[in-house]
Amino acid sequence: MAIALRTFLLSIFIVGLAACSKPPTPYSWNLPHNVPPPQVPNDNPMTEEGVALGKKLFFDTALSVNESIACSSCHLPEHAFADPRTVSIGASGEALTRNALALVNVAYNASFTWAHNNLDSIEKQILIPLFNEHPVEMGVTGNESLILSRLNTPAYRESFKAAYGDSSPNMNNVVRALASYVRSLVSFNSSFDKYAYAGDDYALTPQQIRGLNLFFSERTECFHCHGGVNFTQSSKHSSQSFADQPFHNTGMYNTDGMGSYPKSDMGLYSITHNKADMGKFRAPTLRNIALTAPYMHDGSIETLEDVVAFYARGGNKRDKINPYRSPFIKGFRLTESEQAALIAFLHGLTDDKFIDTHKVHKKE
Ligand code: HEC
Ligand code: HEC
Repeated sequence: MAIALRTFLLSIFIVGLAACSKPPTPYSWNLPHNVPPPQVPNDNPMTEEGVALGKKLFFDTALSVNESIACSSCHLPEHAFADPRTVSIGASGEALTRNALALVNVAYNASFTWAHNNLDSIEKQILIPLFNEHPVEMGVTGNESLILSRLNTPAYRESFKAAYGDSSPNMNNVVRALASYVRSLVSFNSSFDKYAYAGDDYALTPQQIRGLNLFFSERTECFHCHGGVNFTQSSKHSSQSFADQPFHNTGMYNTDGMGSYPKSDMGLYSITHNKADMGKFRAPTLRNIALTAPYMHDGSIETLEDVVAFYARGGNKRDKINPYRSPFIKGFRLTESEQAALIAFLHGLTDDKFIDTHKVHKKE
């Protein structure tokens, strides 16, 4: 009798334990004093468990149809989550048209991808690599249950349970976790930050300080499009109700002499079909820029030296200036030592701690 009762009570205890899962831990951002936290969607609050699960998924090839690539195959942590290849290659071997963006302070972006004015969250952006069919990136479309079955392991079930209280993997929670991980990739610890915000007057070299002054000058106009705490005009944070989404034509191409960009990528025009948007792209953050070569939406510029030379000549005007070119791309002359200073400053935007924190993860 007594034994039966004890077994009965014990089984109630065990069932009770399983039912009451621990609520997830709110995520701590550890941001410097000068940086406000980013906006986070109400239906995907930041938690330690969500970020940890997202990190596992980000590096896991199980997410691509043929298990050939993970998010990290195109977003390499040691390159600030950019891709050293000119353009990235999808799971089926198909080349994409664009160079993979670095994932640096994406949480602060006012718009996502190189040129899109209608993707308002990281959650929505992530559906593109997962589900895109033209070209295939990870090839999830039509293979959802296969991919979810790969995630149905004891370890993943435990992580899904800890993050979302539901141990069976589903695509919605996969996307939520990946978005939380991407949102957690914040970088505000460069030499520039130490110099500008942490009172370390020696964090930048005299040459870098000369470069800083050039960057923020009307001579080069860099700061017009790459200004603010994230070195892009296109940013927002938690106490900002309206975010501008600026896009610019930097005069890279002019295929027909009337301002066209190559058919493969016409920038914002490809989304809006408004002529005024021809060749317009988002100015990406320049944080960690020394690690993310090659540069520009199509990876067509190899080095920072060549990027500065490109701006110095006012874009590519082999034949005629692109009529949609921004008035801030007017060209300038720098002496050799000024050019070296500007580039040295751009190197001062590298955040070694950010890279060290994220670089060594392999599939667990
Ligand atoms: C096959 C290569 C490839 C894979 C795999 C890939 N990406 Fe990307 N990613 C890109 C490219 C290229 C872009 C730029 C896309 C554009 O501008 O249209 C990009 C852009 C992004 C952006 C937008 C960043 C910004 O600043 O706007 C995010 C976020 C992102 N990827 C996250 C992910 C996640 C999460 C995964 C895994 C589910 C992933 N990517 C898998 C190539 C890839
Ligand atoms: C009119 C706005 C504007 C100005 C001024 C400007 N940029 Fe840019 N920048 C952009 C845009 C837009 C892109 C993306 C262009 C593309 O890919 O077609 C870009 C891209 C870049 C990139 C490549 C980023 C990457 O991730 O590949 C670098 C580096 C850069 N700019 C540095 C500078 C420097 C240095 C200056 C000053 C000499 C400058 N920019 C001035 C708008 C601007």
